[in-house]
Amino acid sequence: MIGRLNHVAIVVPDLEAAANQYRSALGASVSQPEDLPEHGVTVVFVELPNTKIELLQPFGEGSPVAAFLEKNASGGMHHICYEVDDIISARDKLKAEGARVLGDGEPKNGAHGKPVLFLHPKDFCGTLVELEQA
Ligand code: CO
Repeated sequence: MIGRLNHVAIVVPDLEAAANQYRSALGASVSQPEDLPEHGVTVVFVELPNTKIELLQPFGEGSPVAAFLEKNASGGMHHICYEVDDIISARDKLKAEGARVLGDGEPKNGAHGKPVLFLHPKDFCGTLVELEQA
């Protein structure tokens, strides 16, 4: 059911420093920062030949990544995102298999303007999983 790895998301305490580190030390192509108020994050995209890395920093009050940063002061891997062809049928199959879908279970538009859902980390080896309809 799952397709390509769309991205790996890493929460960072200092987005500019992280973007510079990816640019200079790793020689990566990094986008300009983009505020996503509806998701409570500022994001840059690191473009790799086969996938993307999203570097996330909290934006505004009540950011969903602020608590993560409190527990992981130097940052850390936050989630991985797999592509699916049909997010509703993927969700229904996962629920039938006993996996927990976070929130109200309805897809929301993600950082790329496409429908996404998140799955409970305890059901997937301790890793928060995002599904994106590609
Ligand atoms: Co993501």
